[in-house]
Amino acid sequence: MDRQELEAGARKILLTNLRRGVADWNGKEYSFVCPSLRGYPFQWFWDSCFHAIALIHLDLDQAKAELTTLMSAALPDGFIPHMIFWEMEKQPDFLSRNIVGMTSPNYSATMQPPIIAYAVERVYQATGDKEFLDAALPILTGFYRWAKQARDPDDDGLIAVIQPEEAGTDCSPKYDDILGLKELSNRGFITALRKVYEAYEPMRGDDHKILAADLFHVEDVLVNTIYAMGLRSLARLLADSGDSTGAAEFNREADRTRDALVSKCWDEDAGAFFDLSGVAETPIKVVTISSLMPLVLEDLPRPIVERLVDQWVTNPDHFWTPYPLPSVPASDPKFMPGNPGGFIWRGPSWINTNWFLSHALRRHGYGELADTVVARSHECIDKSGFREYYNPFTGEGLGASDFGWSTLILDM
Ligand code: GLC
Repeated sequence: MDRQELEAGARKILLTNLRRGVADWNGKEYSFVCPSLRGYPFQWFWDSCFHAIALIHLDLDQAKAELTTLMSAALPDGFIPHMIFWEMEKQPDFLSRNIVGMTSPNYSATMQPPIIAYAVERVYQATGDKEFLDAALPILTGFYRWAKQARDPDDDGLIAVIQPEEAGTDCSPKYDDILGLKELSNRGFITALRKVYEAYEPMRGDDHKILAADLFHVEDVLVNTIYAMGLRSLARLLADSGDSTGAAEFNREADRTRDALVSKCWDEDAGAFFDLSGVAETPIKVVTISSLMPLVLEDLPRPIVERLVDQWVTNPDHFWTPYPLPSVPASDPKFMPGNPGGFIWRGPSWINTNWFLSHALRRHGYGELADTVVARSHECIDKSGFREYYNPFTGEGLGASDFGWSTLILDM
């Protein structure tokens, strides 16, 4: 596929998956792209941000609408749900196959990697639409302040997730021990997750109580890297709009998160970043794609950048598979390259993490590696279309078809 064909393919998916209407339950207009019509028919937080970034290359108005719809779901305390059930009639079928933490029937009570300020920044840069920015800024500041207030009780600059779906990498093996996973399958995962949900039931909506209960309390490296990225974007947007006090606040927070990632999550012996589990902040010593994510930070200390690239990214035993970068290194005994039957994030390569990391590699001076990641991602799409994820050895497409965020290739 050349660029034109790629754009045509992406446009077809983004248009087919486009949902427009007025929600029965809140009377609000919505206009967003769902990740996949069959498997994921609602609005998901980080998917939406990725869709908006891809749409910058195709339809600027729709890119704005995507984010405006997502921001319209912000609650008074600033929180933005990770799933919004705009079309309620599709919910029963979805809930018969999945579990979702809710305090309202219309949206989830959980978060997702907070990339929204970066997506708004990109759309603003592309459109120069000051009205769009002015409407977004109070929602973004509310959201990032919510994250700090609700999710960083020890005030170390690292926010915590309360269940694996919040990190967007649902069944990652790094969570197996915390969840007490007995059966290594999607069914085993759901059974283990259900126990967490049951314990949360009386506390749902009270994040401090849930975090203090210490059942699933993870200062996740991927989430915090994206948090730092979002805080930095927000600071730039505020500076641009003349709010230097706001810009200083969020730059300070971005610095704190970056510094905490390095001082608390970097493991010099292992040469990798590890999530911290529980109030006691025990490192979860399992290397996954999230261990590489801090490469996204432009100001990551150079020796750490080099170590991550030399030891992990370019090593064929770990992440440098024929179709990189797998979600779990090939060397891990739990690595599953093929279709895991819904047991996701345990081996296959995903376009969204390749999008983050190809840009990161390029920014740190690894242009050739970045080019290869992009070229191989492109080959995967050539082979089997815009799929949810791909076999890192063969490039075969797996999971949902016509999957929204794989159109991020347009931005790679
Ligand atoms: C899966 C992914 C999650 C994504 C969602 C919708 O649950 O793990 O990251 O947001 O699907 O695509």
